[in-house]
Amino acid sequence: MEIYKNPSYSPRERTIDLLSRMTIEEKVGQMCQVDGRHDPETWIYKKHIGSFLHVTGDEPARLQKMALETRLGIPILFGIDAIHGHAFQSGATVFPSQLGMSSSWNPELLEKVAAITACEVILTGLHWTFSPVLCIGRDARWGRVDETFGEDPYLIGVLAKAMIQGYQGSQLSDPYSILACAKHFAAYGETQGGRDSSESDVSERKLRSIFLPPFQEAVKAGCATFMTGYNAIDGIPCSANQWLLHDVLKEDWGFQGFVVTDWDNIGHLHEDHKVAATLEEACNIALTAGNDMMMSTPTFYEHALSLIEKGIISESLLDDACSRILELKFKLGLFDHKRFPDQGMASTILGCTEHRKAAYDMALESMVLLKNQNNILPLSKEIKKIALIGPNCDDVQAQLGDWSFGARELAYPEVPTLNYHPEYDPSPIVTILEGIKNRCPHQVQIAYEKGCDLLDENNHAIEEAVEAALASDAIITVVGDTNVLNGEMRDRVDLHLTGAQQKLLEALKATGKPLIIVLVNGKPLTIPWIAENADAILEAWNPGMEGGNGVASILFGDFNPCGKLTISFPRHVGQQPVFYNQLPGWHGNTYVEMTGEPLFPFGFGLSYTQYEYSNLVVSSSSLGVNDHLTVSVDVQNTGKYEGTEIVQLYINDIFSSVTTPIKELKGFQRIHLKPGEKAAVHITVPVASLGLVNRKCQYVVEPGTFEIMVGPSSRDTDLLKTIFEVVS
Ligand code: BGC
Repeated sequence: MEIYKNPSYSPRERTIDLLSRMTIEEKVGQMCQVDGRHDPETWIYKKHIGSFLHVTGDEPARLQKMALETRLGIPILFGIDAIHGHAFQSGATVFPSQLGMSSSWNPELLEKVAAITACEVILTGLHWTFSPVLCIGRDARWGRVDETFGEDPYLIGVLAKAMIQGYQGSQLSDPYSILACAKHFAAYGETQGGRDSSESDVSERKLRSIFLPPFQEAVKAGCATFMTGYNAIDGIPCSANQWLLHDVLKEDWGFQGFVVTDWDNIGHLHEDHKVAATLEEACNIALTAGNDMMMSTPTFYEHALSLIEKGIISESLLDDACSRILELKFKLGLFDHKRFPDQGMASTILGCTEHRKAAYDMALESMVLLKNQNNILPLSKEIKKIALIGPNCDDVQAQLGDWSFGARELAYPEVPTLNYHPEYDPSPIVTILEGIKNRCPHQVQIAYEKGCDLLDENNHAIEEAVEAALASDAIITVVGDTNVLNGEMRDRVDLHLTGAQQKLLEALKATGKPLIIVLVNGKPLTIPWIAENADAILEAWNPGMEGGNGVASILFGDFNPCGKLTISFPRHVGQQPVFYNQLPGWHGNTYVEMTGEPLFPFGFGLSYTQYEYSNLVVSSSSLGVNDHLTVSVDVQNTGKYEGTEIVQLYINDIFSSVTTPIKELKGFQRIHLKPGEKAAVHITVPVASLGLVNRKCQYVVEPGTFEIMVGPSSRDTDLLKTIFEVVS
């Protein structure tokens, strides 16, 4: 009896049965993943491929049918980078970048975003997204900061869990569940000088204190797959790190899913890291380390077979990797024909009104108000003429951000065949120009001028922009960066505004008209001039397809902004990295030229209303490690608008056996308050979460005094403080 074909058996039983029928070649094939440019006939019929990535349009259905005709009929798993919506697919919903979404501090909304993404991915015949990114974004020079949830390990863990739940649903067999992938394991974002894919200089203590916790949360949330980073740690490339992949992830944390390498990590072991003299040796190292699926190393197939034949690796290694992959295919229902693309449904569901509404809500909540002098925002009814100026007013690419339509082509112009989205239609995307035109009351006139190119400093029309500004009551300027300044292989030495943007802003300022600046950018930029000279600053990040409507709603006061930064803004690139949870130093936090403080700190974000914090109390002045601490504070809306405040709880272990960060986020709560309303906010944390990693690299909670800090941002002067004791 072919147990593996019978859905009444468990995924584990079916896997065992199927594995017992497979040849070595079929097992090795399951462990291979290549992109759609490789000949499917060869890969499906001759090499028994387990997974394709970046295959879109009608291809997934065609290839799946071919796979089902093979001897065992093992379905193909299709993967895609749908990291802020299914953004390579024409018509799909594109949400703000991951960094943008993190600024919402809204796990429920993130779960919804991920569930919508999963639904759209499934309808196009794909099953697996390479998301969420759990790298820590500490150095804004690094090209991939826009892909992260920012700089705080605790917040990353909370948001990761929400996204994983959204992608995977309550169980993988649900009709709209897809596999999530926690990446890039581990410490990939801890670059040197912001340079991608190099060595991450982290000790085991630092790794366990800062970089591993979000990944451990992902395992706890049941994340189906993990992707290994391009980087090396202490001389060991992640794909070659048996301790990391096997001992920590699979053994200590009990990870049941499979590990995929990043793009040709095996090749990099040989060609770049140079820890393997041949590709075959690199395959051996990667296999032995604990990688289960090999992304984009096509020759792995031949090398793995040769390694088996020579007796260098044992078949049991293949069995373990294969079981992990197959079991997930069973859990997803791929063998039971539940996962074919549905063109009809896709055409009605992708980018449907309900999904767009979530993109709009997320755009609203992801925006951060950084300045609002004299409450210039929301725009008053007195303003009848607006000069809308700037290179990012009407730029689809900048608005959608990386990992979306067009972004890959910009990053890899030398690979024209990538062609992820042959028929991408950008028309459903509402740019800021369109959003403002649609929203603005009919008696208000909008004069639009691009003003300058974002990159070429000689290409500008500043005079025309100034003319429009002079004729206006207020200027809204949309500046920032664009996709060629973000993403893989797009690290920067500088974080300033490019092209003639700064010159444009200075000319606009000289008109004396109120200057409202909207930033559309993938990462924090160094904007001290803007902070000093703008009347208002709205950080919109890469706000996605509904970004234009979102910006308009905030500017005209339909929505009170509530986003808070999840990454600090440096004043100067030389301050990098400038994250909030620094270890203590004693020579003063200053440089010769300026302070070491960021321009805008982690957790910072204004509102159209004001909130007053008072009456900070802890549930008990001393507690044991197994207890829970409840921290309470009163928050009152003292302004004129109703709004949502994100109340943040930080702690500091005052004396400890090793140095600990000056403050660490341990909890937060969103609270909605009407004007004048006051509410008590209670945040409960397990005392067990207040620990540190000691000299022996063990996680422990050390008895002693802890400082408890609560407030609207991580800035010291924003926080109410008290203390409490942990007793043994
Ligand atoms: C990136 C990954 C991505 C993969 C597949 C790599 O270059 O580092 O984040 O998932 O490509 O597109």
